[in-house]
Amino acid sequence: MATVLERLAATIAARKDADPAASHTAALFAKGPAKCAEKFGEEAVEAIVEAVRGDRARLTGEAADVLYHLLVMLASRDVPLAEVLAELERREGVSGVAEKAARGPGVSVRRVSDEAGIARCLAIRELVFIEEQAVPAELEVDGLDPRCRHYLATLGAEPVGAARVLPQDGRAKIQRVAVVPAARGQGVGLAIMQRILDDLAHEPGMAEAWLESQIHAVAFYEALGFVAEGEEFLDAGIPHLTMRKKLSAG
Ligand SMILES: CC(C)(COP(=O)(O)OP(=O)(O)OC[C@H]1O[C@@H](n2cnc3c(N)ncnc32)[C@H](O)[C@@H]1OP(=O)(O)O)[C@@H](O)C(=O)NCCC(=O)NCCS
Repeated sequence: MATVLERLAATIAARKDADPAASHTAALFAKGPAKCAEKFGEEAVEAIVEAVRGDRARLTGEAADVLYHLLVMLASRDVPLAEVLAELERREGVSGVAEKAARGPGVSVRRVSDEAGIARCLAIRELVFIEEQAVPAELEVDGLDPRCRHYLATLGAEPVGAARVLPQDGRAKIQRVAVVPAARGQGVGLAIMQRILDDLAHEPGMAEAWLESQIHAVAFYEALGFVAEGEEFLDAGIPHLTMRKKLSAG
């Protein structure tokens, strides 16, 4: 028999295509996944406040709001409750410490060519470029992905970073380097770049890596040996500089 949570998830899913004027849930979906996530965050903070104050009745009410908004946020990203419950079941019997150890603290970067791996890269890029930096979707999804090599970084089991490389006759253009906000400052960006540069350095005939860096990230690429050249230019309304690095194998 379905639990109240499962029934609520089903009701929420049924509102996805409903009229936003007639349903609160449909109105939330209409504002997009970032807004659904923001609402979840607000409700979580309200629950935290009541937990700290120790008001049992209010905490119960806020906790119900948190669960509702968690389900809306999951549905906005097409993650069924069943998958989350299955993940919890998988963890049952594994102690907290063992679970963390299994996740491991390290960053790992791999090249992905399967559909699921590339979809994970695209989801990270969408979050960072389209939602966070407001790059228009039609510029971000530019049709070049099938010609690119894709890299995915994970922290433990979590996909947290992505980049793509467009090979161009003895040169390689590195693009779409993105780390999700929560994982920044932990070496993920560096690990992605080092893996890409290492692969390129072992490729016969590959003479140069180049990229167009957002101004704020120039120091990040300089630390990896890239040198800026020319004048600043705007791409998707964001100032950029061209940067290049010679590769030893070339
Ligand atoms: C730029 C970005 C990929 C860096 O990823 P990250 O995982 O946070 O970077 P790391 O933790 O590997 O940082 C490596 C080093 O670069 C520095 N660094 C990180 N981001 C930087 C930035 N934006 N500008 C200058 N230096 C930066 C860090 O301080 C660190 O140096 P340290 O070890 O001496 O402290 C990440 O901030 C991001 O995704 N930003 C939004 C998307 C974006 O702008 N991408 C670049 C498009 S050109």
